[in-house]
Amino acid sequence: MMNSKTTEQGHFITVEGGEGAGKSCNLAFIQTLLEAAGKRVLFTREPGGTPLGEAIRELLLGHKHTGMADDTELLLMFAARAEHLQRKILPALEQGAWVLCDRFTDASFAYQGAGRGIADDRIALLERFVQGELRPDLTLLLDLPVEIGMERAGNRSQPDRFEREEVSFFEKVREGYLRIAAREPERVRVIDASPALEVVQQQIADVIQAYLESHDG
Ligand code: TMP
Repeated sequence: MMNSKTTEQGHFITVEGGEGAGKSCNLAFIQTLLEAAGKRVLFTREPGGTPLGEAIRELLLGHKHTGMADDTELLLMFAARAEHLQRKILPALEQGAWVLCDRFTDASFAYQGAGRGIADDRIALLERFVQGELRPDLTLLLDLPVEIGMERAGNRSQPDRFEREEVSFFEKVREGYLRIAAREPERVRVIDASPALEVVQQQIADVIQAYLESHDG
């Protein structure tokens, strides 16, 4: 249904989740699974993924602009995304790569939409402007209760501008993500990230395996 990739060969997989959901470790696991299946994987992230995108990321995550307006934050996310798509994601998809991206536009709906309170239709406007019809083919949402996630993330040093938000902000973000998953169950697979790592990875392996089988050849 949401399969709107621009080429026959390329696949666009994104991973989303709140604080402490184990995104980094599970992204590495997904990359291993895809490579073991013989796929050429381009791993990248948002905001970032290009030199200009990484510079925008510093503006967004750093503490130099703590009073940033919500709309500015949203527009910077999409500015980084435009650069990322044009310079990296689209060329890779055109060459048949499997693009594995740490966060994408669902994060804008969850953080800037549900979290900050920007209306979905305004974000959807930017989504169309920057992406046209392009959407991820598959999204894994690593979901877990906010308190558990914050506890897990707690001992990391130097919280960024988002990590400094209140619990209530992350509750809204989580609800925002779950609403997207409920709306698009084919594309967005919810992974329960609260149990032990091997249990989480079994769920991930099942989803990736099913995707590989349905897109074989
Ligand atoms: P992360 O790489 O540790 O996930 O940090 C990226 C942060 O940026 C994270 O707190 C979520 C936030 N973010 C948004 O608010 N909107 C977006 O569109 C994206 C891609 C990320």
